[in-house]
Amino acid sequence: MLVSAKEMMQKARAGHYAVGAFNINNLEWTKAILLTAQELQSPVILGVSEGAGKYMGGYKTIVGMVKGLIEEQNITVPVALHLDHGSYEGCYKCIEAGFSSVMFDGSKYPIDENVAKTKELVAVTGEKGMSLEAEVGGIGGEEDGVVSMGECADPDECKAIADLGITMLAAGIGNIHGKYPEGWPGLRFDVLESINAKVGEMPLVLHGGTGIPADMIKKAISLGVSKINVNTECQLSFAAATRKYIEEGKDQQGKGYDPRKLLAPGFEAIKATVKEKMELFGSVGKA
Ligand code: 13P
Repeated sequence: MLVSAKEMMQKARAGHYAVGAFNINNLEWTKAILLTAQELQSPVILGVSEGAGKYMGGYKTIVGMVKGLIEEQNITVPVALHLDHGSYEGCYKCIEAGFSSVMFDGSKYPIDENVAKTKELVAVTGEKGMSLEAEVGGIGGEEDGVVSMGECADPDECKAIADLGITMLAAGIGNIHGKYPEGWPGLRFDVLESINAKVGEMPLVLHGGTGIPADMIKKAISLGVSKINVNTECQLSFAAATRKYIEEGKDQQGKGYDPRKLLAPGFEAIKATVKEKMELFGSVGKA
């Protein structure tokens, strides 16, 4: 069922668990994530970065693929199709294409401009029954060419954005995209606590889910995190499984070069990674 992320976020926040937002790159990714969510009876969010949107042939192509899979694979759990780190223009494109959720990442703008643009998008998405994620404080690291040094969000700015009527709020708390570097000091729970104290029941979003130790994930959830984004970890498990298949020479045995065989171990690896995350986030059985 393609739905906005609103209800799943509110339930997660109230129920003290988090919904995984997994970035998709192609058909294998999307099918693996959807089938795992269905098997585990978990709500799920499919994240699409602007770069991945281009790669997959455009937002409308993605909407067609996701809706088709939901129908033909009998996916009955709640699924949100969500633009990840959207630009202002990108949000409008996805609203038009039929996404059920968008993130407007206005963290690069001065706070007044971030507030103004987010406010406008609250009205537009609200009219369409879509959910909206906003961001305060850049997430560190590099994702699809968007480079941010990673900063901690200002709790007052978080409140200003949260009060606009958004569905969920991403706030920088020392998290970064991609693998965490040696000597990373960990999440800033003091900052998360002050943000959580200011924003009431607003579901918070933790980006850069790859490589955050389980105890930190659990603590973040206890402090209001209701959506956790995972991208790199699925890429790493897909790559490792595909490498193993090729290094074992399996692509050269029989019809092992058939993409349906060649990509199968990677597909299974994504399923295993998604399962592990859903179990850790506590969303299993919450559909
Ligand atoms: P990772 O690639 O670090 O898992 O981050 C994903 C993310 O935050 C997508 O917005």
